[in-house]
Amino acid sequence: MGSDTLTITDNRTGKSYVIPVLYGTYAAAGAAIWATDLRQIKVSEDDFGLMSYDPGFMNTAAARSRVTFVDGERGILRYRGYPIEQLAEQSTYLETAYLLLYGELPLREQLKEWTEEIIHHTMLHESIKKFLDGFHYDAHPMGMLIGTLGALSTFYPEARHIHDLVVRRKQTIRLIAKMPTLAAFAYRHSRGLPYAYPDNDLSYTGNFLNMLFKTTELRYTPHPVLERALNVLFILHADHEQNCSTSAMRGIGSAHADPYSALAGAAAALYGPLHGGASGEVLRMLGEIGAPNRVPGYVARVKTGEFKLMGFGHRVYKNYDPRARIIKKVAEEVFGVTGISPLLEIALELERLALADDYFTSRQLYPNVDFYSGIIYQAMGFPVEMFPVLFAIPRTAGWLAQWEEMLQDPEQKISRPRQIYDGDDLREYAPLSRRGAQAA
Ligand code: SDX
Repeated sequence: MGSDTLTITDNRTGKSYVIPVLYGTYAAAGAAIWATDLRQIKVSEDDFGLMSYDPGFMNTAAARSRVTFVDGERGILRYRGYPIEQLAEQSTYLETAYLLLYGELPLREQLKEWTEEIIHHTMLHESIKKFLDGFHYDAHPMGMLIGTLGALSTFYPEARHIHDLVVRRKQTIRLIAKMPTLAAFAYRHSRGLPYAYPDNDLSYTGNFLNMLFKTTELRYTPHPVLERALNVLFILHADHEQNCSTSAMRGIGSAHADPYSALAGAAAALYGPLHGGASGEVLRMLGEIGAPNRVPGYVARVKTGEFKLMGFGHRVYKNYDPRARIIKKVAEEVFGVTGISPLLEIALELERLALADDYFTSRQLYPNVDFYSGIIYQAMGFPVEMFPVLFAIPRTAGWLAQWEEMLQDPEQKISRPRQIYDGDDLREYAPLSRRGAQAA
């Protein structure tokens, strides 16, 4: 093996440059060059120097991270080195959140303290209800969540002291604890139901189900299968390295904004139908198809490029999304309680046809995390508008873990990408009287 460098020859000038190569933990973890090393490549002294052009960051590493490892070719997802399959099978969401944030699985006492801290911060300031009450009856719960998350920053002004580790940890606990309450209150508002307050004797997901679905009973008792299914779904959605919403969290956080404002921005990115909104789009798509025998006609329209197959494809996974495989198993458990969703048969037929069709396999398009999650959420009684909210709740731990890592990374600066300017060269201002003539 040669030295860990590249030799680049600029054929415009005949000059050569030796540029060092950076590595991750191991080969699959990535290798890169410092993009700023390209700036020395110039055609003249006053040349700005070479940049890399990468719309959508198809091939740009914006961070070094130890939180999550994804190997798209091999369909691998690990949180702090632990395979997602083992965490989904044996862990809980709160334990996984601790792992993402602090890098190690908690010891018994640490888990007990962590759980108690979260449970004791689930309440919201009563004034937050005034914000929620101000929304229209049919306001989208994701819009309500984004709005109230930003509003929360005004209730905890100390959160702006982002260089204080104790302050950051307190806001992290508050956000992980309050997200389910905010989400449930938004859901109750959209249903015209009174708010159901947290029950601290229930688990994190059990309490969330309580705040969503409690009616006149004195105490809500979550169904253990649904409580466990929600735990697994939350674990699967907890982090996913430098995805769109995490990049938004890091970008806003890099300006040293408070974590509530940064989280509102991350949630706004997740709201997009290509990102966290996809599971709802999958449900709309399956409803539009209507029956398994209409799947071939729909697939034919996708192949003309008329629209994308929602819940399929991924920027990183060029193999089956390992989360989709686990979610498919969760579906069986949930349907054992709720009854099988009529959409499941359509989804299974759609997957069967797509995976046998070269149009999809040649583009490495496989089911992603969103393909089956929506069917499960609908079977559990969630309206489709709640699906991105159900994504934002667990991803809060990942967003905060990545935010914390960014703040502690000495190589990180405020996010400010460059551009290639394609606009007009210098031109003089023309007063109104001369504009028509000038344009002619
Ligand atoms: C999530 O990044 C993350 O980690 C995200 C996430 C997370 O945990 O945070 O995993 C969660 O957001 C999952 C993705 C959910 N979105 C969807 O299911 C929406 C449908 N999927 C597509 O929009 C798309 O696959 C993306 C957005 C997910 C990925 O898009 P890319 O990587 O930018 O791929 P591309 O658009 O460049 O497509 C490459 C080719 C194109 O065809 P050609 O131009 O080469 O002919 O594949 C085609 C695309 O048209 N293609 C699809 C397709 N996705 C891509 N064709 C049909 N159906 C699709 N779903």
